[in-house]
Amino acid sequence: MSAPDARLHRKEGESARTPRATIAILDYGSQYTQLIARRVRESRVYCEIFPHDVTADELTARNVVGVILSGGPASAYEKDAPQIDPKILDGRFPVLGICYGMHLMAHVLGGEVAPEGKREYGPATLGITDASGLFEGLGTSERAWMSHGDTVRRLPPGFHGIATTDRLPNAAMSDGLRRFGVQFHPEVMHTPRGAEVLRNFLYRVCGCEGDWTPAAFVDEAVAELRRTIGDRHAICALSGGVDSAVAATLVAKAIGDRLTCVFIDHGLLREGEAEQVVATFGPRLRLIHIDASGRFLARLADVTEPEKKRTIIGEEFIRVFEEQAKKIGAVQLLVQGTIYPDVIESKSRDSKTSARIKTHHNVGGLPEVMDLEVVEPLRRLFKDEVRRVGAELGIPEDILWRHPFPGPGLAVRVIGALTKERLDVLRRADAIFLEELRAADLYRTVAQAFAVLTPVHSVGVMGDYRTYGSLVALRAVTTEDFMTADWARLPYDVLARISARIVNEVPEVNRVVYDISSKPPATIEWE
Ligand code: XMP
Repeated sequence: MSAPDARLHRKEGESARTPRATIAILDYGSQYTQLIARRVRESRVYCEIFPHDVTADELTARNVVGVILSGGPASAYEKDAPQIDPKILDGRFPVLGICYGMHLMAHVLGGEVAPEGKREYGPATLGITDASGLFEGLGTSERAWMSHGDTVRRLPPGFHGIATTDRLPNAAMSDGLRRFGVQFHPEVMHTPRGAEVLRNFLYRVCGCEGDWTPAAFVDEAVAELRRTIGDRHAICALSGGVDSAVAATLVAKAIGDRLTCVFIDHGLLREGEAEQVVATFGPRLRLIHIDASGRFLARLADVTEPEKKRTIIGEEFIRVFEEQAKKIGAVQLLVQGTIYPDVIESKSRDSKTSARIKTHHNVGGLPEVMDLEVVEPLRRLFKDEVRRVGAELGIPEDILWRHPFPGPGLAVRVIGALTKERLDVLRRADAIFLEELRAADLYRTVAQAFAVLTPVHSVGVMGDYRTYGSLVALRAVTTEDFMTADWARLPYDVLARISARIVNEVPEVNRVVYDISSKPPATIEWE
């Protein structure tokens, strides 16, 4: 269960450390901004996304060694188009402008940007006319992905064209030193050699060294945590999920037994899950395992309404957690597994240039009255980096690659009344589903998979008997970000095996269906 943060007194914990050499990505509202950041990190270079109104001085203070301007939906010549501190473009930083970023550079530096007449969206063939710097190592002809309505009609003084397409005389530009613009998107998969273009910028132009590795992160984070936490005590709600597990292990590496992890079993976990969490983390962390299933299920008896279930679980979670915190005594800090996409999402909700929306799904909230300072050691990491850091810390693979699991647990997957018996039926069916997915080597190819126990009963026949059993639904989805998802095309023979095993091994179930809805319009969970 992820410990929720909405009601906590947040003190951001950004400290006075000497910042590591950083690539700044200025966000002009492109749907690809996060992707640029991921690509840079994949090149082992540390980067952060900044709002576009950040100043050159702020970037210098953050030890920024290069700037990437993202794409975006605006037109650089319009009156209220998002701008840039012109000092960022005066040559003090290496700069790579992508799409809108290139237009803005051209516009601010004295070139001319104009609408192209017809939007270009899709693949194009680049003819590379100058391969020095950005395009080093590429061929004279490369495929690239375009998505734009404007174009750089006249280059700014001091710049020359470095690539063309059949539509665009200025598909990319350079000042011959360290400022570049590209009309295409090097960050997307459809630009096959885009990663090399980015790497050329990072390594050749900005002089980055590729030293952003999990081991380096662990060393820096541990030193930083020791410095900021001092001799204070911390508490963490461990759920068994990847983020809280890595956050807790990292903090424990820094402050040892001064971190206490509380694992609350609310009776809504999957089969074998509590045992797995205790077996994995018991020896590594100071872990308190609370079996609170009795009190959770007592409060949930007769509750069928989904929102009510969530509220009760949230409230009860707070109570149990607070009781434990009191028992531990003086605790000043709360460790949370917040990761970079959560930070970006919550910031971009206020941002004018971003159209992304994401609802947060945290259960309950930890009490304001506890007045804990929040420690979020993963708030600059993407999910894949969290996993790599976890591996570096020796956390087992099956924890690191676990599918996400909702805070209210199986309560959102047992539709209707929540009883111990119905939970057990779901647990059995779900365990069979996951076991068969693993056996077929499909667990990692789907982003999330689970069984749902519906309140539907239907007629069946078993041997000479008529049955009237429960209907179990299986859900498996593929997704990048959980905001949209598609149903996974599982092979028929795997589905057949799962269905046969469930109806044979779980006597209460006589019918299994597979959910073939995408999100939207459906959601991933059933309630
Ligand atoms: P939906 O059902 O909204 O789910 O498409 C998107 C992702 O969020 C997870 N989820 C939750 N996680 N508490 C959580 O911590 C919740 O109440 C909750 N509801 C949904 C869901 O499993 C999926 O990964």
